[in-house]
Amino acid sequence: MPQPNGISAKPDGSETAISQPQIETSNGHDPGIGPRQNLADLFAPFERLANWLLPYALEQQDGAHDDSHLVRVFNNAMRIHAQEGGDGEILAAAVLLHDCVHVEKNAPHRAQASRLAADKASRLLNEAHWPDIRIEAVAHAIVSHSFSANQPPQSLEAKILQDADRLDALGFIGLARTFAIAGRLGGQLYDHLDPCAERRPLDDRRYALDHFATKLFKLADGFQTATGKAMARQRHERLQLFHAMFLEETTGAKPESNFYLSF
Ligand SMILES: [Fe+2]
Ligand SMILES: [Fe+2]
Repeated sequence: MPQPNGISAKPDGSETAISQPQIETSNGHDPGIGPRQNLADLFAPFERLANWLLPYALEQQDGAHDDSHLVRVFNNAMRIHAQEGGDGEILAAAVLLHDCVHVEKNAPHRAQASRLAADKASRLLNEAHWPDIRIEAVAHAIVSHSFSANQPPQSLEAKILQDADRLDALGFIGLARTFAIAGRLGGQLYDHLDPCAERRPLDDRRYALDHFATKLFKLADGFQTATGKAMARQRHERLQLFHAMFLEETTGAKPESNFYLSF
């Protein structure tokens, strides 16, 4: 079905770009330059909820966690929700607040980040007199979205949020975020003496490319919903393609002869 971001989901969950409607302008020029769209409008049909919660959604913005991350996770969540069901408003609130407390990736209390975010979300929703049962549903989804919390998602909304957030760690957007984080934390692109860590332990704090083996290549196996799994499979293949091409460009290593057949 058509999605707000101009991507359609095929029944197998894979993505196909769909053509955007042509907008006529009086001078015949591209209408791209105009008033910026309001951020909250991108969370339709939950614009009012977004308008209220967005000011609390991120304590700081960087290349991996910014407004655009929230919009992408929301679009992923709505695509999965359209196929799998669940409560859209609980899901939208959980998406908007899932990263509302910032704890740096290498900070000692990193594992508590999603618990702190859930507590902050509960306080906010409580002030707006949301029913306790709905607040608990949002809080559970937020706590369990994170790997580090080690709390498996129980509800459908929690499963969808976890899948929607993890999809943003895969594919071309996932690798862009990986290198953005590595750069911000002072890491290098890769170890040019041993790019695949054949003679050293993997070290993704130091080398961004190592993050593919320590985390990114494992992600696609842990998805919760059938729709999320299908979307993850395609983005996983994009990561494999990038990884192989990166090694070819940097070391001259040729992928196996049948490598391209899977793309
Ligand atoms: Fe998160
Ligand atoms: Fe996130």
